Amino acid sequence: MKPGSSTGVSCRLLFDRTVWPLKITSNPNMVKTEVAIVGMGTVGSGVARLLLDHGDRTARHAGRTLWLSHVVVRNLQQSREAKLPDGLLTNDLNRVIRDPNVKVVAQLIGGVEPAKSIMLKLLESGKDIVTANKALLAEHGPELFDRARQLGRSIAFEASVAGGIPIVTNISQCLSANQIISLRGILNGTSNYVATRMDQDDLPYAQALKKAQEWGFAEADPSYDVDGSDAAQKLAILAHLGFGARIRWNHIPRRGIDSLTKTDLNYAKQLGYRIKLIAFALQSDSGLQLTVAPMLVKIGKPLAEVRENFNAISVVGDAVGPVFFHGQGAGRMPTASAIVADMIDTAVGRTGLTFKTLELWSDGVPRVEMAHPGDLAGRFYLRFNVRDEPGVLAKLAGILGDNGISIASVYQHTADGSNQDSIPLVIMTRDTTEHNADNAVFEIEKLPCVVAGTERLRILD
Ligand code: HSE
Repeated sequence: MKPGSSTGVSCRLLFDRTVWPLKITSNPNMVKTEVAIVGMGTVGSGVARLLLDHGDRTARHAGRTLWLSHVVVRNLQQSREAKLPDGLLTNDLNRVIRDPNVKVVAQLIGGVEPAKSIMLKLLESGKDIVTANKALLAEHGPELFDRARQLGRSIAFEASVAGGIPIVTNISQCLSANQIISLRGILNGTSNYVATRMDQDDLPYAQALKKAQEWGFAEADPSYDVDGSDAAQKLAILAHLGFGARIRWNHIPRRGIDSLTKTDLNYAKQLGYRIKLIAFALQSDSGLQLTVAPMLVKIGKPLAEVRENFNAISVVGDAVGPVFFHGQGAGRMPTASAIVADMIDTAVGRTGLTFKTLELWSDGVPRVEMAHPGDLAGRFYLRFNVRDEPGVLAKLAGILGDNGISIASVYQHTADGSNQDSIPLVIMTRDTTEHNADNAVFEIEKLPCVVAGTERLRILD
């Protein structure tokens, strides 16, 4: 099945031409707000397309034309998928900085530097910013937002989390009457795509990742996609908005799909679960729990059915109850959709208003205590490789019992022939804590009847 399609009907079909000359459809005689794009990669070309080919749409929603005046790139010679009308492309950022008519800039450069210095320069020259750069916000959000506030400017960042899904606006504005109780998200499209291909097509991890890169979901360096860092950066942003947390993304306990094996994907499936990379937030009595890890999700539950490059976020608010968001979290047009919506909101002044009142990334004290990660309760999938000899199960069960862990079910698989030394033994636990599960695994791994390669995954009930 094509990426962009969780139903078999591809919503990418609308934008399937890979090379196209862009035409200006905006009305030059209408009231206009001049805008610029800095960075013309995958997302930048999608933004140019929506602004130029569909200027009539943006004008209808903004009540004015968003007039694209400059597109700044590093290398003018590089071949591009979208051919821009003459005169737009430049490699001189100063053309934007010195143009007082340009009010809004979509800054679409990834990574931390030079993106941070460029953003500061643009803010200081009086531009409002729209960005998808979650790494930059997760790393330097407080400094950038403070500077924007001092200068009376704004930074809009809907596209930085879950691409085309409007989760930032929903959490920070539409659900603002709620205490958010929990948030469970599939926030990295690359990981979800890779896990889907491994699960559905039996593709090895490396091949599945290569395909994700070919489709343009993965970052230039995909290590942050697959090791959980990208999802942790997005979770840090959502935790800030939804719970008032002031946590650095790299303080969130995280693990990615890069160490996931097909063995566990298969065992999970036999047990009625799919393994998904979940960004998890829970407001409990002891504080806010945040973690990113592959977890078992029961087949049939909405998050388990999120396939391909799709993202989803399940939020529970105390007033609204459960709300579910689903859509494409990566790729050219879904991300461009969020960027252009932010450009419209900025041009008409909505972003400026909320930016002032939301106190985003202010130095204010956190509104929430963080809980100890070891206290996080839940059930676990434990897979041990054990020698096929009498008494092994009793020894494992004894250690689990000593750590207060009750066993829900046990599955012992016969040796598959590839490894005669050991057989896999899967134990599904009842509710316990992260701390108890870790202690038990640590003790069990010391047993002579247990060989290396234990897996411990949380079950998302
Ligand atoms: N690499 C990211 C993902 C893109 O796969 O989700 C959007 O942040």
